[in-house]
This record gives sequence, C-alpha cells and structure tokens, in this order.
Amino acid sequence: MSELQNINWSELGFSYIKTDLRYISVWEDGKWDDGKLVEDNQLHISEASTGLHYGQQCFEGLKAYRTKEGKVQLFRPDRNAKRMQESCDRIKMPAPSVEKFIDACKQVVNANLSWVPPYGSGATLYLRPFIFGCGDTIGVKPAPRYIFSVFCMPVGPYFKGGLSPVNFATTGFDRAAPAGTGMAKVGGNYAASLLPHEEAANKGYADCIYLDPSTHTKIEEVGAANFFGITKDNKFITPKSDSILPSITKYSLLHVAKEYLGMETEESDVYIDDLDKFTEAGACGTAAVITPIGGIEHKGHFHVFHSETEVGPVTRKLYDTLVGIQLGDVEAPEGWIVEV
Ligand code: PLP
Ligand code: COI
Repeated sequence: MSELQNINWSELGFSYIKTDLRYISVWEDGKWDDGKLVEDNQLHISEASTGLHYGQQCFEGLKAYRTKEGKVQLFRPDRNAKRMQESCDRIKMPAPSVEKFIDACKQVVNANLSWVPPYGSGATLYLRPFIFGCGDTIGVKPAPRYIFSVFCMPVGPYFKGGLSPVNFATTGFDRAAPAGTGMAKVGGNYAASLLPHEEAANKGYADCIYLDPSTHTKIEEVGAANFFGITKDNKFITPKSDSILPSITKYSLLHVAKEYLGMETEESDVYIDDLDKFTEAGACGTAAVITPIGGIEHKGHFHVFHSETEVGPVTRKLYDTLVGIQLGDVEAPEGWIVEV
C-alpha cells in the first residue's frame, strides 16, 4: 500500500482539499486531445466562456474505495460516464467516451493514491469530473472549445453525522422545470438550489425537499440526493419523475433491495400528504451515501418516520449491503466494480 497522507480520516467532512494531480483534456476542432495530469488547480480561461455566462457546464460525482486487502476500486463509473454524456447532449456539449471518462478517473486515482482513505475509516476518495464551454463566445450558442477535467479529494459524510438521521423541510421553490434540465447534472440546477437550501438551513434543517414543479404535491428529491421510503409492508419506493437526477445510488439500491434483500421495489409518485405509509425514509446519493431521514416539515407540520435519532432496521440493511459492495466486502453484481 502506498504511504498515506497524515490526515485524521474519520474527522473529514465534505470539503475541498487540493490533492496532488488532476486530469485535463481539451476539445477543439471536433476532437478531444489525449489529456494530461497537471499540478496546477487554477484554470486560465476566456472571460467570454459560455460556462461562465450561460451555464454551459455539467459535472459528475463518484468515489474510489480502498478495500480490506488494500486494493482501490471505483463504483459503476460507466454509469457516471453515460450520465455525463446525457447531460452534455442536453446542453449541446461534446462528451468524452465512456472509455476516456473511466481512463481519466483511473489516472487521477492512481496519481493521488496517498489520498485514498484507508479501509474502515469511513472516508472515501470523491472524484469530481466536469466539462464546460470556454473560448471566445458572446452570443447564446455552444462554445468553440471545452475543458474536461477530473479532480479528487478525500471526503467524509456529506450530511453531518453519516448514518444518523437528519431532518428536511419542503420548499416552495423549484430546482427544475417539468421539461427543463432537472434530469441533467448541470450547474444551473445547483445555483437554483442555493437559496432554498439556505432557507431550510436557517430553520435548522439539513436541506430542503423539492416537490414536483407542476403540482407541488409529490416529492421530487433533495438538493443533492434522491429520496426513498420503506412502507409498512417492506416495499422500497422512490419517486418517478422526469425532472429529478437519475441517481446511480438510487438505481443501485433498487437492485440491492430486490436482489439482495428480497424486497418489492417501485418507482412511483410519492405524495407529500401520504408520508404515513412509510416506516422509514432516506436520502441517497454518492455524496450522501444513505442518509436516514428523521422527519420532514411540510406547511408547518413535522412528520417523523422511524425516529429522529435512530437509524431504521431496513435502512441499515440497505446501507450495509450497498457500502459492503462498494468496499469489496459483499459480492457485487457483474460490472459494478472497476479496479484502479
Ligand atoms: N440528486 C441530485 C440533485 C444530486 O446532485 C445527486 C448527486 O449526484 C443525486 C441525486 C444522487 O445521484 P448519484 O447517486 O448518482 O450520486
Ligand atoms: C454527488 O453526490 O456526487 C453530488 O454531486 C452531490 C453534491 C455534492 C452536488
């Protein structure tokens, strides 16, 4: 095992840390260059970059995990690569191939091995691939040049406390429109989430829950994670909507719930006035992993699921199985794990 940085791994939160090397590739004249690893974490770009003015930008998030044997592995990077291609299509950007995307991620992990947290520390290496339009453009049109970059940093839990419950509040704001960009991982969705997040945080909540932009009656997702609930009869239910981000963690949990835990699963409407049917609920995502939801405030009423302080038994089983797969302790479905 490579020598590790001197970090108190179990104390890490979700914050930027400059690691040794990052990958950068440039698209120009219809093609990507070969890409390279660089030390500099500052980008020098045109003041007229579409990524700065018109939000022509998208990003991804995935993690590298150190196994008990000391190997380092990525979880379903092909899914992030494909989702990045879909995001790029939506806002007229060229996307790297799945192979180029995975190769860039592997290069970045290999170049920063001393930053990959040890097995059992609770921390992981978070990778942030992103693409944006640059070059000189002032009209609202696609850029002549694009940068694809991947950087990484060790992280701990996104929501404070990891596997302990957090509370959310619904917001009257929408993060995305019905036929807008909600399903794409584009920066504009996240800019739209900053004010509602701050309002929820000021009221003491970990984040806000968005409702469907057409009727404001159904749960969409959290600002940085999808939602799931467990019914009294042990069914795993998660919202179906064209304006939420198709979470790779959510689709992995649908598989884990069905194939590993023998549960019934369903993607369907989740009405905010029908939370009584759930005995447990959670937020899921790469950064959020599985964060149990203690309760949700909606229009002055606070609904508690399992408990505000204890994680529910089904949520724990889902967490143990998913994280077990990611860390190499539980056998993964074919193709889910890519060794670095
Ligand atoms: N929803 C939003 C808005 C997100 O930003 C994320 C994070 O990527 C997710 C859901 C979870 O997606 P994934 O499980 O692919 O990380
Ligand atoms: C992720 O889970 O990877 C995210 O992108 C969530 C957030 C940090 C934006």
